[in-house]
Amino acid sequence: MKLLVTGSSGLIGSEVCTFFASLDHEIHGVDNNQRAVFFGEHGDTRWNQQRLVETLHNFKHHEMDIRNREGLSKLVATLKPDAIVHTAAQPSHDRAADIPFDDFDTNAVGTLNLLEAARTHCPESPFVHMSTNKVYGDLPNTLELKEEETRWDYASPEYENGIPESFSIDQSKHSLFGASKVAADIMVQEYGRYFDMPTCCLRGGCLTGPNHSGVELHGFLSYLVRCNLEGREYRLFGYKGKQVRDNIHSRDVALFIDCFIQAPRKGEVYNLGGGRGNS
Ligand SMILES: NC(=O)c1ccc[n+]([C@@H]2O[C@H](COP(=O)([O-])OP(=O)(O)OC[C@H]3O[C@@H](n4cnc5c(N)ncnc54)[C@H](O)[C@@H]3O)[C@@H](O)[C@H]2O)c1
Repeated sequence: MKLLVTGSSGLIGSEVCTFFASLDHEIHGVDNNQRAVFFGEHGDTRWNQQRLVETLHNFKHHEMDIRNREGLSKLVATLKPDAIVHTAAQPSHDRAADIPFDDFDTNAVGTLNLLEAARTHCPESPFVHMSTNKVYGDLPNTLELKEEETRWDYASPEYENGIPESFSIDQSKHSLFGASKVAADIMVQEYGRYFDMPTCCLRGGCLTGPNHSGVELHGFLSYLVRCNLEGREYRLFGYKGKQVRDNIHSRDVALFIDCFIQAPRKGEVYNLGGGRGNS
């Protein structure tokens, strides 16, 4: 299988490349180290790109910005990949407020560029989009909570294992990042329903793993570990530090993506997390 992975130097993209390369597939990665532009030197992903190039014999890096509509379309036309995994994004709430155009052009328009390239050149190929649980905005905050010694928990047992995908994404506050990801999420669903393409959105909570270029504004577990190792102060923002965050290992995300590619559906949406035991 020939696989196209956008955001291939990032946390999820690189894990997906590594996983599918181990199955002997041909992997094409698209990345332009935009994370360093978004977050500065600690967000730099060149080391990870280098690691992929050096360790995976069946990996090829393509230096490209997903906002380059024509370039992306040409690449997809040339490769005609058997599956596409779209992980390139501006991934931070707080950063988005400072760079609204870069955020929307990357998250929403970049996704549309890729969808349209896929529809034109490989409409039968499964298309997996990394969405986010932030599409629900602050609506989950309206659910009743109970305060425990170290964490907040849902008061109702109905939500013990999280909210369902049918939970509304409408009429809530998202942050500009959440809103640009909603636009992409809906567009990916639409290409599934309207054009009958095998697309899905994976709405993750906190995704983590060894290859995250963690910074304070994104990649909290990686950043927390880095602070600990470097003896730096880790700042807590509100809620008495009792926020609960679902964490899933990036390799488990890759395994899920493999399952979808093997048995794709159209316009599907999945909440994807490590579950209560890993929160
Ligand atoms: N990490 C998390 O906790 C988390 C949680 C929920 C959803 N997600 C989603 O998963 C996806 C992957 O997240 P991640 O943690 O791997 O992010 P990441 O920042 O580690 O990786 C994204 C990669 O995309 C690249 N990129 C960004 N803009 C680009 C552009 N315009 N053109 C080409 N490349 C570009 C970056 O350089 C980076 O290497 C994102 O869509 C994100 O919103 C992540």
